[in-house]
Amino acid sequence: MSVSAVVPWFLCDWVSSFFYDPFRDFATIKGNFNSLRLACASARGATTLEWIRAFPGQPIIRWRELGLRNYLLVADEEMIRDVLVNKAIDFEKPQMPRTIVGRLLGRGLAVSEGHEHRKQRFAMGPSVAAKNIRSFYPVIIEKVDRFLGQIEESMCRQQAGKEGKSAEGVVDMDGWIRYLMVEIIGVKVLGHDWGVEPGAQEKVAECFARVLDPSVTNIFYFTIYNVWPRWIVSLVPWSHGSLTDSLKDRLRVWCLDSIKRSQDNKNEIENENIDTSVIESMDHRGDFTASELSEQAMALLAGFESPSLALFWCCFELARHHEFQEKLRTEVRSHLLAEGCSQKWETIEALPLLNAFCREVLRLHPPVSVTIRQSVRDTVIGDVDVPANTRLFISAYAMQRRHDIWGPRGDEFWPERWLDLDENGNASLNQMGGATSMFAYMPFLHGRRACVAKELAYAGMRCVVAGLIGRFAMELQDSAQEVKVGD
Ligand code: HEM
Repeated sequence: MSVSAVVPWFLCDWVSSFFYDPFRDFATIKGNFNSLRLACASARGATTLEWIRAFPGQPIIRWRELGLRNYLLVADEEMIRDVLVNKAIDFEKPQMPRTIVGRLLGRGLAVSEGHEHRKQRFAMGPSVAAKNIRSFYPVIIEKVDRFLGQIEESMCRQQAGKEGKSAEGVVDMDGWIRYLMVEIIGVKVLGHDWGVEPGAQEKVAECFARVLDPSVTNIFYFTIYNVWPRWIVSLVPWSHGSLTDSLKDRLRVWCLDSIKRSQDNKNEIENENIDTSVIESMDHRGDFTASELSEQAMALLAGFESPSLALFWCCFELARHHEFQEKLRTEVRSHLLAEGCSQKWETIEALPLLNAFCREVLRLHPPVSVTIRQSVRDTVIGDVDVPANTRLFISAYAMQRRHDIWGPRGDEFWPERWLDLDENGNASLNQMGGATSMFAYMPFLHGRRACVAKELAYAGMRCVVAGLIGRFAMELQDSAQEVKVGD
């Protein structure tokens, strides 16, 4: 569309939006650039919580950009159910963010829609199902053991020359965890073990970190791409784009190499329910080229960011809550580390405090704090008409902290909310944490676009937390330091 055609269209749309605004009676956030505010908040999602608290009881809160487009924050659990489950077919991920994420990370499952999405998700099939992930626990445990050994070595090196102390030291948990996650996910996604190549997982993690860095440039680029018309964005000269392309090319080559190696070594998959890597499963169940598989692999590998962030927050909460740390250590040592105990998935998945802890960390610090959808046709959520092309935000961060849902301790770290006690004082895990609807707790989202790797993520979190707490005591290096995501 030429500029001369766009300007009248833009003006027409602007003027008509003053006369017809279907959301004019809804709670409204005043001002412009609210989308930018939302994207730049240091705790992603904090702005949405602020808005929900400013309009208590409102099912929908809206804001407008340039007085033109309506953006809705959906704050009602039943309406969220409509968007994610009942009417999921009426909502898609908006095109612009999909284009950008696809450009950054490959055109994988997370950015596909419609038939393509169904085909890709089907092809991943059993490789990501709970049964298959359970047979993957021994690999995760072995990797975690090696990782703990490396941390201990690093602390011993810091102690060299000092006498009479047990191993203690300062450890950058964020960095260590990211390398571990790249290694674990590399095996599960590609069937390839970067852990056996010195430094490989560091290279992969650093490459992804640069592509996904929540820097001002990346956020600015993302936001204007999301909010402004494409022809305006295309006028801005970006050096950013070519840097991203070269990093992405490097990642693609690594993935292609691994896929080719794994295809060369491929044995017939006799029982597709057992122990297949995700890419093997896709290769087996769908007609994908090596290049398409490598795009999928890249996009899946980028998933290491979410569990890394979740585990960073696990360390943070443990380091802040010494009493809880002690309780969890007792549970882990008595069930997993004492002589005669088994480190089987059955035991690990049944530990109440460990599982309650993982749920609580994901409640307070959901790595994917806000999700965006766009209506692709006129539809209805709850009793509200939503015209086509309306953009909706769903905030796990805000929903998971609301006092009216989680009680006055909604902002507090309190893992015990996930435990029920029987008359003998024995704890068992409950599924709701005191909330009345599953749509108040959605770190992995719900419905057909829910996280495909939820079971893998939980398995990784359980094993890393159990390993760390069983072996080490943690405290913050500087307890007064304010923690910001992206620091
Ligand atoms: C604690 C860890 C994780 C959390 C909290 C998490 C959370 C989420 C959420 C909320 C979504 C939905 C996003 C949306 O639709 O807007 C999602 C989707 C997805 N996640 Fe995860 N994730 C985690 C780990 C992982 C890992 C380890 C991988 C890869 C191995 C992964 C791969 C994906 C993919 C491919 C999708 C897109 C699914 C689809 O659209 O059908 N995630 N994740």
